Order: sequence, then C-alpha cells, then structure tokens
Amino acid sequence: MAIRKIVVLGEDDILRKHARVVEKFDRRLHTLLSDMAETMYEAQGVGLAAPQVGILKRVAVIDVEDEHGLIELVNPVIVESEGSVVGPEGCLSVPGRRGTVERPERIVVVAQDRNGQSFRLEAKGLLAVCICHEVDHLDGVVYTDKMIEDVTDQETEAKEE
Ligand code: NI
Repeated sequence: MAIRKIVVLGEDDILRKHARVVEKFDRRLHTLLSDMAETMYEAQGVGLAAPQVGILKRVAVIDVEDEHGLIELVNPVIVESEGSVVGPEGCLSVPGRRGTVERPERIVVVAQDRNGQSFRLEAKGLLAVCICHEVDHLDGVVYTDKMIEDVTDQETEAKEE
C-alpha cells in the first residue's frame, strides 16, 4: 500500500471532471482502493474519492468510525433519498475551510465491492452526508459549490471528506 497525493482544488481540474464507471475489478483496482484507504486514514479524513488522488474512476472509500468500519464503494448510485439536514462539511481537497451544506437525512446507495459484487446500503446522519459528498466528487462537484454559509472561522465538528 502507498500514500497517494491528495489533489487540492484549483491546482488540478480533475476535481471538475465526471469520473468513469469501473468495469475491471482487477488487482489495479484493489491497489487503488487500499491506497485510498491508507491515504484517507493518514489525512484523518472520513472519506476520499478517486478523483481526489488523481484517478478518474467511480471509486470512493469512507470510514465514519461507526459499525460499518471501512466502506469501499465502486460505481455508487444513490437510489433513494429523503429528508433534509444542514450541517458543516470539510474536504481534504479544500484544506482549512468549512462550510454548511444541505443534504438528505437518509439515503440508500447501491454500489459494487472490490470484486464486483453489488450491495445496497441504507445510511443516515454523517454516513449519509459522507456518501453524498463522495458521489458528488465523482461528478465533478465540490461541497463549496453547494455551500450555504462559510463557517471556517466558527467552531465546528466538521470532518474532512
Ligand atoms: Ni471532499
């Protein structure tokens, strides 16, 4: 495994591109997923999407320190969402900033694991926010695009994703 360099917004337009669907569930994908998890933990983030490490594939890793532990999402699609909640977010690609964003309260995501096996996951709270944040990255969207209020200078519990 290896730590990969996290792309910072403004230094590379890869964060603005639409990531490609993964078709090959091979060793290369497994290495990417393992490296992304290591990179996320090293940066003390709760989520990381492949474009943030310069790879334009529909891949994300998440660990919000709940009962799920590390979640690997390949080709994730949010198939249900309901409710609305506004809370602070940060992003490893936008260091040192925080902002509030409106997100669904509950979602259902369908994705594949590293071997191509499909699964369905229902999420609420921080996990739901994190999944939405990472899926946005796969479509070239950064949370600052949706930011309601910049809360960089306020005390928040915001995690970086
Ligand atoms: Ni992010």
